[in-house]
Amino acid sequence: MTKYDFNQVIPRKNTNSYKWDIVADDIIPLWVADMDFEVAPEIKQAIIERANHGIFGYTLVPDSYYESIIQWFKNRHNWSIDRNSIIYTSGVVPAISATIKALAMPGENVLVQTPVYNCFFSSIRNQGCSIIENELIREGDTYKINFEDFEKKCADEKTTIFLLCNPHNPTGRVWTKDELERMNSICLKYGVKVISDEIHCELVMPGYSYTPFASISDECKNNSIILNSPSKAFNIAGLQIANIICENTVWRRRINRAINIFEICDVNPFGIVALQAAYNKGGEWIDELNQYIYENYLYLKKFILEELPQVEVIKLEGTYLAWIDIMCFELSSDEAYNELLNDGKVLVNSGTLYGKKSGEGYLRINLACPRETLKKGLIRIARILGQYIEEESRMGCPM
Ligand SMILES: Cc1ncc(COP(=O)(O)O)c(C=O)c1O
Repeated sequence: MTKYDFNQVIPRKNTNSYKWDIVADDIIPLWVADMDFEVAPEIKQAIIERANHGIFGYTLVPDSYYESIIQWFKNRHNWSIDRNSIIYTSGVVPAISATIKALAMPGENVLVQTPVYNCFFSSIRNQGCSIIENELIREGDTYKINFEDFEKKCADEKTTIFLLCNPHNPTGRVWTKDELERMNSICLKYGVKVISDEIHCELVMPGYSYTPFASISDECKNNSIILNSPSKAFNIAGLQIANIICENTVWRRRINRAINIFEICDVNPFGIVALQAAYNKGGEWIDELNQYIYENYLYLKKFILEELPQVEVIKLEGTYLAWIDIMCFELSSDEAYNELLNDGKVLVNSGTLYGKKSGEGYLRINLACPRETLKKGLIRIARILGQYIEEESRMGCPM
């Protein structure tokens, strides 16, 4: 018996929703990473109570805010965070940019594992740094790290930062402790600092477990800056709240300066109360959410197996983003994206957004919606891509 109803379809049109209102009324949006679920009732209640006060001036962050973060990560992820290491800010992407600004010089390399979240590229470029790619290796229905190449890229003296995505968007990998440890020891060997974007950390499928990078060892803690936020998992991205966790005092002072220079040192009153409600009372909701997303993933897998058997679905360990391989069609990701949007009336993300080479041949589909919405979207996807199956099989396409 579940407590929360994720099947409920809540219209989001005309709410200034980036996901829904940027496209025409007849499009089903399965793209940008926000969810079509109402937030946990505890979060909604906390916001209503704050709104009822009626005054929304400049805001202080109370001690209890830090306590909520510390307790959540201790109890849920067995990670002890020192209060002094927490810097609040308005988002994870602004935090990435500010941290790169603080810790790298223009012209230096920032290493990323492609395909990867597209804003990584702009954050790096906007600080005058160069993107250097450690392409992940596709193996069956999952991805693994090319450690030899990773070490080679770290050994380049221009590489000073490794920007990790843990769990990884869009491949759905939840990195294991061993993988994380191994990445850090290579980074330490060459003096490469690790920025770990852990925004997807609560979104983990049954059988997998998220390891906070800084929780592994003192070496990892002292060589990393962790970025996290309840925004993705609790569906409060519009409230603009995030945290930078940096134990290293010298780096923290520099990041603090960058946060001030970028003018991203203020947060809004709703973000604060929402974060506290999420971390103080949201555990049960997240558990049910993950179960629902997992069932959506199984639904998508079964649907694709039946309707588009040539398409390969990458294993989802974490996040709510399905990553599918459409290479069989000899249709580029961008062509598929355009046809799906224009003819199919369904908006997904083209894989090339996450890496021109590494993302080619893939599409990303947002699973964080009621099953009914997902089902409608998948039917549209099958209608468009299905035409290619018929054409290809007429031409003797290998299955
Ligand atoms: C890996 C990753 N980092 C950051 C963000 C966005 O963070 P924010 O909205 O806090 O800037 C996203 C959104 O999809 C993401 O996938």
